[in-house]
Amino acid sequence: MIDASKKMDLLMSLCKRRGFVYPGSEIYGGFANSWDYGPYGSQLKKNIRDAWWKMFVETRGDVVGIESPIIMNPKVWKASGHLDTFTDPLVDCKRCRKRFRADHIAEAAGRDAATLDLTGLVCPECGGQFTDIRHFNLMFKTFVGVTEDASNIAYLRPETAGGMFVAWKNVRDSLHRRLPLGVAQIGKAFRNEITPGNFIFRTREFDQMEIEYFVKPEDGPAIFESWLTDMKRWCHDVLKIKPDHLVYHEIPAEERAFYSTRTVDIEYHYPFGLKELYGLANRTDYDLSRHQEASGEDLRFLDPETNERYIPHVIEPTWGLDRTVLVVLAEHLDIDEASTAEGDKEPRMVLRFPPKLAPVKGAVLPLQKKNDLVGKANEIVASLRALGIATDYDASASIGKRYRRQDEIGTPWCVTIDPQTHEDVCVTVRDRDTMEQVRIPMAELAGWVEARLK
Ligand code: GAP
Repeated sequence: MIDASKKMDLLMSLCKRRGFVYPGSEIYGGFANSWDYGPYGSQLKKNIRDAWWKMFVETRGDVVGIESPIIMNPKVWKASGHLDTFTDPLVDCKRCRKRFRADHIAEAAGRDAATLDLTGLVCPECGGQFTDIRHFNLMFKTFVGVTEDASNIAYLRPETAGGMFVAWKNVRDSLHRRLPLGVAQIGKAFRNEITPGNFIFRTREFDQMEIEYFVKPEDGPAIFESWLTDMKRWCHDVLKIKPDHLVYHEIPAEERAFYSTRTVDIEYHYPFGLKELYGLANRTDYDLSRHQEASGEDLRFLDPETNERYIPHVIEPTWGLDRTVLVVLAEHLDIDEASTAEGDKEPRMVLRFPPKLAPVKGAVLPLQKKNDLVGKANEIVASLRALGIATDYDASASIGKRYRRQDEIGTPWCVTIDPQTHEDVCVTVRDRDTMEQVRIPMAELAGWVEARLK
């Protein structure tokens, strides 16, 4: 059995070697746990983002999309409470000077993270004493315009949600829809995390996919349940995560934000432990009330049936996109130690991605570099690409090495062209998971692949 930390090392090494995720700014020695998504990683991320948008925006009649700026009027973050309370508790080790999150230290000692009781605890690295707990604001500050003075201070958004609350009035007035109505956005968020780490799990810059779902106050509890069901469907049907790899953690009242009447964290068994993947919260009328008070604008909704005006409640399902990429990689990485060939530095690894998420769907591999085979191979590549099916072409190295390369990037189907192709106009398709090989007429191949991606 591969232990968890070895699994993480193998995953990170595969990600770098095969072009999924590289250390950021690497030629300058790296930078603050930042990462570059390479050619296959950025395509995988895009496929996840597209699948999410399709499932939660395009194919539902009750959710619309927006795109708001990363730098908004700083009053937004004053009203939302971020400027005053978006902090993490931190302690420093007096001996080795390492910095930790106090809640993580308490949690690791089996104590309630919310109480921040570190009595008797010492630095896990060197046994030194901790400083007192300080509260550190996670907002990234910048200046807008040419002068760097207090009147020009602005912030990079710490979550995409603020954009939806601020746009609510315009969405309401331009669409004239009934409730419930969701407003969705995918984009970057920035947090000056004290302890980023675990690869792309916690970074200072990350993508969120969020929906603020505006509802009649009395409908909130039932709609919360239906969002929980939809989030489960996403995990099981789209990401194909095994149900027992997920935990639905009902957050007790004393640990919830004071305005939330219900919060569920969706947690995943990462190789480094059980940790948060997504969240779902009933935020009541907290955000719109704060923005109404701070802006002086009327943010209420006029119910066309009852003629009543009220501030909608908000059910907020939130997904981290980078964490989703990590989970898709970890969940579908199959490490086959038994098949490690002699001389191999690493065991054989296959990324068994659901085909719809795989960055490359098909790889066309001519068995020989003869002109006629290469010509046929190019014809096939063009026919697949014309249908929007991401296809690799690889004529280098032995066929074994080429299969292995495609297995490591998770390509579901490899298509080989051999001399017989000229006679029967057929190609051989090898399935990544069953290893079965079937012979298919060349003219039917694109349709065959397309049908399996539906
Ligand atoms: N609007 C609510 C909100 O932002 P959150 O739990 O702070 O809630 C939502 O963040 C999601 O964003 C998390 O469930 C996680 O998937 C992702 N996320 C949060 N902080 C992150 C970080 N530093 N790095 C990567 N992903 C992060």
